[in-house]
Amino acid sequence: MSEQAQTATNDAESTSEKLVELAKRRGYFFQSSGAYGGVGGFYTFGPQGASLKGNVEDAWRDRFAVAEGNMEIDAPTIMPEPVFEASGHLDGFDDMLVECDECGESHRADHVVEDNTEYEDAESLPIPEVEEVIAEHQLVCPSCGAGLAGQAVETFNLMFATNIGPGDSDPGYLRPETAQGIFVEFPRLKEYARNQLPFGVTQIGRAYRNEISPRRSIIRTREFTQAELEYFVDPETDEPDLESVADVDVTLYPASEQNKDDGDEIRTTIGDAVEEGVISSPWVAYFLGVAKPWYDAVGVDMDRFRFRQHLSGERAHYAADCWDAESEIDGNWIEMAGFAYRSDYDLSKHAEHSGDRFTVFKQYDEPKTVERATVDPDMSYLGPEFGGDAQAVVEELEDLAARDRAAFDGDVVEIELEDDTHDIPVEKTGFAVEEQTEAGEHITPHVVEPSFGVDRLVYTVLHHAYREDEVDGEERTYLELDPEVAPTFVGVFPLQNDDELEAEAQEIVADLRAEGLSVTYDDSGNIGRRYRRQDEVGTPFCVTVDYETIEDKETTVTVRERDTTDQTRLPVDDLVEALAEIREGDLEFEEL
Ligand code: GAP
Repeated sequence: MSEQAQTATNDAESTSEKLVELAKRRGYFFQSSGAYGGVGGFYTFGPQGASLKGNVEDAWRDRFAVAEGNMEIDAPTIMPEPVFEASGHLDGFDDMLVECDECGESHRADHVVEDNTEYEDAESLPIPEVEEVIAEHQLVCPSCGAGLAGQAVETFNLMFATNIGPGDSDPGYLRPETAQGIFVEFPRLKEYARNQLPFGVTQIGRAYRNEISPRRSIIRTREFTQAELEYFVDPETDEPDLESVADVDVTLYPASEQNKDDGDEIRTTIGDAVEEGVISSPWVAYFLGVAKPWYDAVGVDMDRFRFRQHLSGERAHYAADCWDAESEIDGNWIEMAGFAYRSDYDLSKHAEHSGDRFTVFKQYDEPKTVERATVDPDMSYLGPEFGGDAQAVVEELEDLAARDRAAFDGDVVEIELEDDTHDIPVEKTGFAVEEQTEAGEHITPHVVEPSFGVDRLVYTVLHHAYREDEVDGEERTYLELDPEVAPTFVGVFPLQNDDELEAEAQEIVADLRAEGLSVTYDDSGNIGRRYRRQDEVGTPFCVTVDYETIEDKETTVTVRERDTTDQTRLPVDDLVEALAEIREGDLEFEEL
């Protein structure tokens, strides 16, 4: 018995506007610090939003940490400057900024170009070219309309700086990605993994970027949540379980297609994409194959989803290859996650800057006998000859012996020290080639990184779930959220304000909560309005306690399904078990 009339299709043009309004009204998300005028790029998740976000994070943890057998950590959000010197963020984590001479507003130059020209990826253009495009197209300030031609485009580092402790001698930064909290702890984490590759470490937490122009509500903010997995592999020997994801269908938009005039997305499977070389890293392919069904399960519309490869100029400073998971929002594609092959970039940099060991000892199957070139310099010669630089000369000789044995073939060895060349008699170097038996070697693992933005995923899930239709001649808005992520699973109402009905309804609430279901109790306003409220926040089911419930011999309640608005009566005694089975996916509403 449906109260539902013809389903109206979404008005794609304005879904975002309507969603943002609904989000504020119903407690999904809203701009923070509103009492003080609000502040750009900071959002608070209200009761519904915090619950939805938490459910999405739990689903991510179940799939990417628990099911994959990875470890989870929780690191600080502020880290000292040397971390970001090593990671390259201090020098390379910049956006392009153009400031308007007229009104003083700053804008992302690449966004000004993309929004007003045919360029789709201005971020990958060099700065002089962006300046040229601005001049050529006579682009104007998005705030006041003044011309931007001739304005210098500059780089702007996105990290929020702070001081650790009083004074400014100990600079620190709010982490721009959760990943660094994992990389810097690698020397300890590898011990927890018993020095066995491959292994993965996950983290769900806040990241901070001082975005030049935060926009589109929670899509581009200055504080957001990332769910990241850093997967450490031996690039020579470790291989993913590609078989398990080979049949996953995917829509791919490779760089090669983006570079063509008539390039297009391709539909294929993960297995074929690897075989045909469309995705070069089997590890990246594996995680794309794991991610796609997961996105489907949490409620991303698969007809509005694709993986897009980064163009070469677009990749972050650490990435050798990267594919983004993108969702379509009002005709635009937004990046929800990046799947990057970071190679040994991060671990090598932290090893170089910290002096600590960011390697794993890889045992050979059989010990190997190898020839090693060594030096044992005569310090009674080097000391007087080089004074305080003698130790540096020893290190140079050691390096040279490992690198280029032939350099020791003549009577003298030539070394470079602070731009000067020095000749050292070979007999003073103690050069020798010895046979050594080695049990293994220290290798620097490579990193594959699936990096998910939780806020953008929450936005996508809400946007793709937004529906409008007509019920009993009245317009209705509802969110077709998957029960796994919906903030509330069931709403319970007494039909009227009546002690007996209320007591029965409260008892049902207590029983459902004891089963671990998330329940809301609502006794305000007429029943139709209460249904609309729950529809609008995406509650999949409502249970109404009416006079039949308390008068019938067999106590029954009405159970209503959100999307169809179909209703059925169910004995109270069966209610908890039936709803719990539906929540687990073991039963359909129609089977009740
Ligand atoms: N560790 C890799 C990394 O941070 P990223 O592509 O810069 O990669 C990963 O960020 C994800 O974080 C993005 O795909 C996006 O979903 C999210 N994200 C990045 N900047 C964001 C912002 N300003 N606001 C909201 N989410 C953001």
